Amino acid sequence: MPSTLTLRRPDDWHVHLRDGAMLKACAVHTARQFARAIIMPNLVPPVTKVAEAVAYRDRIRAAVPADLKFEPLMTCYLTDGADPAELLRGKNEGVWVAAKLYPAHATTNSAHGVTSMDRVAKGLEAMEKAGMPLLVHGEVTDPEVDIFDREAVFLDKTLAPLLKRHPGLKIVLEHITTREGVAFVEANPGRMGGTITPHHLSYNRNAIFKGGIRPHFYCLPIAKREEHRLALRRAATSGGAQFFLGTDTAPHTADTKECACGCAGVFNAPVAMQVYAQVFAEENALDRLEAFASLNGPRFYGLPANEERVMLRAAALDAPESVDVPGLAAGLAKTITVFRPDTPVGWSF
Ligand code: NCD
Ligand code: ZN
Repeated sequence: MPSTLTLRRPDDWHVHLRDGAMLKACAVHTARQFARAIIMPNLVPPVTKVAEAVAYRDRIRAAVPADLKFEPLMTCYLTDGADPAELLRGKNEGVWVAAKLYPAHATTNSAHGVTSMDRVAKGLEAMEKAGMPLLVHGEVTDPEVDIFDREAVFLDKTLAPLLKRHPGLKIVLEHITTREGVAFVEANPGRMGGTITPHHLSYNRNAIFKGGIRPHFYCLPIAKREEHRLALRRAATSGGAQFFLGTDTAPHTADTKECACGCAGVFNAPVAMQVYAQVFAEENALDRLEAFASLNGPRFYGLPANEERVMLRAAALDAPESVDVPGLAAGLAKTITVFRPDTPVGWSF
């Protein structure tokens, strides 16, 4: 095992930075590790207009300490009847890098999401012509479908017809959690990519219930059985160009997770590269970490890879257990719990 690992600075292709006090508390943690990040638009209200994205991008830049170089890549939140002209304008003006499809009510802040693919067909046609990727939260929302099956059912019921209907559309299946998701991406080379989170590589669904209910292991899509985690580990460490890094770091303050109806989302930004390195080391694939973290994503998006190098050290994880959020509510000290796998992490960033 090497004692250090040097690679091109990685990018994070799926990040929730939030806004206001949360943004100020969280942005630095992503910017310390990553040169660029795809910024999720699920604010309240969602980012649907070019002008809103420009203003949000300015707030993100202002929240990152001046000594860190960080480029937020903005996405448009698709709603029913999404305006093709707004999508094209934002793409042409260098604001939108992609658009995000949340099936309505699939996850946190997705109430304005899409209720039927027919209602975004015009927008998707425009994106197809413009070469603008679609980022997909791949879960059906039908309450009759078991929560652990929602990704696999989405692939059959929604994604397969969508690929046929828009044959030129580039699609990222985000935060893949199943072997079916891995297989679906692999079956569509050239036009599909898939992101994989550090937490879905680290634990299976048992962890959510080990010794009691553990809200900080709850995210959507929810972690699945061990066989699925193993499929994700194979995909991420395969060197395959279709799979790339997307942490889905999704901060919620501890009080909103540790309650009767806790929010979905794992905050992993301070430990992301350390956990990925641990997984790749366990799979004897450290030589493939750079492809997953720093090369495959830019290639999919048609962007240059970063030239700067970063170094990981083989040393016990050195990261805070929580991050404070000053200024969220007067008189209340709020914190966000930082993800930590149950198994040891032997890498420092
Ligand atoms: C995300 C959030 O909190 O915004 N939550 C999550 O569990 N991943 C939304 C999402 O990406 O699904
Ligand atoms: Zn997400």
